[in-house]
Amino acid sequence: MKAPPRLQALIDEGLIDTVVRQLMSGKEAMVFVVRCGDDTRCAKVYKEATNRSFRQAVDYTENRKVKNTRQARAMAKGTKFGRQAQEAAWQSAEVDALYRLADAGVRVPKPYNFHEGVLLMELVTDEQGDAAPRLNDVDFTAEDAARHHATLITEVVRMLSAGVVHGDLSEFNILLAADGPVIIDLPQAVDAAGNNHAKRMLLRDVDNLRDFFGRFAPELLATAFGPEIWALYERGLLQPDTVLTGRFQVKGGTVDVGHVMREIDDARAEEAARRLRMAAVR
Ligand SMILES: Nc1ncnc2c1ncn2[C@@H]1O[C@H](COP(=O)(O)OP(=O)(O)O)[C@@H](O)[C@H]1O
Ligand SMILES: [Mg+2]
Repeated sequence: MKAPPRLQALIDEGLIDTVVRQLMSGKEAMVFVVRCGDDTRCAKVYKEATNRSFRQAVDYTENRKVKNTRQARAMAKGTKFGRQAQEAAWQSAEVDALYRLADAGVRVPKPYNFHEGVLLMELVTDEQGDAAPRLNDVDFTAEDAARHHATLITEVVRMLSAGVVHGDLSEFNILLAADGPVIIDLPQAVDAAGNNHAKRMLLRDVDNLRDFFGRFAPELLATAFGPEIWALYERGLLQPDTVLTGRFQVKGGTVDVGHVMREIDDARAEEAARRLRMAAVR
């Protein structure tokens, strides 16, 4: 196809050879399949900030550290320079998150370049080598749904262990690649430690996974991984390999009767053993 104007700069720079086709026009971006030498890649062209939702702008701006004070003042005032600075920060947040998460072993598209508001990254593909479908476009057996849910909970834990909350995780922002689920679309990702919305965003992300896969595997609907993950994170106990139960007990909440009975049985056995020992020394 004829290259859209926003991709021309990358062609001029030799970063892209040809534009194959447009893949999607989502809420925040237009996505193209491009050729770079022998490789097929994905080019994400960000839309203007004015076309984005206010909610995300608010969540995103909260507690962001801006290095330079002129930039911070301009962003606060909403001047043209400020809007440009905000725009650049928003776009590079996705690039930063992709590098950080890839480093942490999270399955995200491999980023190659970020130039003139265009992110060049790995094209996530299915078994046929075609652009991978979103989870929302796929039907799952109960078994596959439970398996992918477990994989993605582990990915959420890995992300949080690396200090990142996705913030817009759902069946629309996860692709089903030949090698399993791949998490995409990260410009609103937040720093878990420095953002007052991080907990709310994490709980929403985890609820979205539960509700989506719960359509195919209803037993998932009774799980509560979000509060469990956040409680461990807050206490500094969350590790990428932490084993989770999916249950979360609020203080003063339900009692595990089986556990209490086992404790009583143990105490009884211990007391019987003590009496035997006492009888033997006498
Ligand atoms: N790396 C990729 N590989 C394959 N398809 C992709 C890739 N990145 C995005 N897409 C496709 O483009 C769509 C929009 O991309 P996304 O990053 O979610 O932007 P938006 O903010 O517009 O939702 C996705 O739903 C997916 O179908
Ligand atoms: Mg998206």
